[in-house]
Amino acid sequence: MTLSSRCRTGPVVLGGRSPHDDSVPSEGAPMPCSTPRIDACWQALLSARDHDWSSGPLAVDLAPGRLTMTGDATWRADPELDADSADLLDALLPILCAPEGCIIGQLGQSLDGRIATRTGHSHYINGIAARTHLHRLRALADAVVVGAGTVAADDPALTVRHVPGPHPLRVVIDPKGRLAEHHRLFTDGEARTLHLVAPGALSDGGATHLQREELAVAPDDALARAVIVRLREAGYRRVLVEGGSTTLSHFLAADALDRLHLLVAPLLIGSGRAGLNLPPIDTLDDARRPTCRRFSLGTDTLFDLALRGER
Ligand SMILES: NC(=O)c1ccc[n+]([C@@H]2O[C@H](COP(=O)([O-])OP(=O)(O)OC[C@H]3O[C@@H](n4cnc5c(N)ncnc54)[C@H](OP(=O)(O)O)[C@@H]3O)[C@@H](O)[C@H]2O)c1
Repeated sequence: MTLSSRCRTGPVVLGGRSPHDDSVPSEGAPMPCSTPRIDACWQALLSARDHDWSSGPLAVDLAPGRLTMTGDATWRADPELDADSADLLDALLPILCAPEGCIIGQLGQSLDGRIATRTGHSHYINGIAARTHLHRLRALADAVVVGAGTVAADDPALTVRHVPGPHPLRVVIDPKGRLAEHHRLFTDGEARTLHLVAPGALSDGGATHLQREELAVAPDDALARAVIVRLREAGYRRVLVEGGSTTLSHFLAADALDRLHLLVAPLLIGSGRAGLNLPPIDTLDDARRPTCRRFSLGTDTLFDLALRGER
């Protein structure tokens, strides 16, 4: 038997093809988002969600074989894992090992940094492997945060459906209390929902899975920080900021994110809604240059940016 042990920093592949394979798979080509080995590694990651890393590594049976995960986000497996299973662990284990928890943003965008056309059409920019990755992020998170604009535009469920795993708390930032009662998050009862509104914008009522709260702070970046403080105080340490662009930009500008997963699809939209909008800078000396790992996700590319300790 061979033993694999690693946590890589270079270009790697997640969800199918070699990083050097630039060919486009034919429509309908199978995406290895799920194989018995990938599924076993995913179950191992789910079992690591609540592990106390200060107590030592976590060893799990992979049937056949054994996987040992360590608090520094490295792992070793016996027998050696295939590349796709290894990449799954490499991409996601750092989120579970951060001692203070992890605030992670995600954004699916085109090569030219757009998330929708000018009419708001956006389904789908990313392929199924990237969308499965988003559901894995939700399943590993304690809470998922979206802005009022996303709920108004998409009426999302924000549940975990493409992979097995628990639903996170769904959090909506809606300062003006402008969202109508009929939205899925407020009515479906699929998972708990926290509706955050500014003082005075609170309406009564709602289903039992729904909690409404006032958040007494100034808007924008201060509000982004206050949401994280509120969630941390309630024990939600792993938070996925799913979008949209305004919300994610506020969290990034407020330096409230530990990591950012940019899911880049190989298309050029050329107009329409931009992904990130940050305060302007005059020279590239002021540009952020985070440490970056790159993974293939089917035809898309995941850029995993570590936003703490930037160069
Ligand atoms: N590609 C992706 O990965 C992805 C992911 C999610 C959504 N989307 C798309 O993004 C679009 C929506 O994006 P969006 O930028 O219009 O809306 P958004 O970011 O979902 O919501 C923005 C609104 O949320 C409230 N808000 C959130 N954070 C705030 C803060 N820190 N301070 C103050 N207000 C805050 C404000 O509501 P008020 O204006 O009421 O004050 C703000 O206008 C949709 O088309 C959706 O499909 C794409």
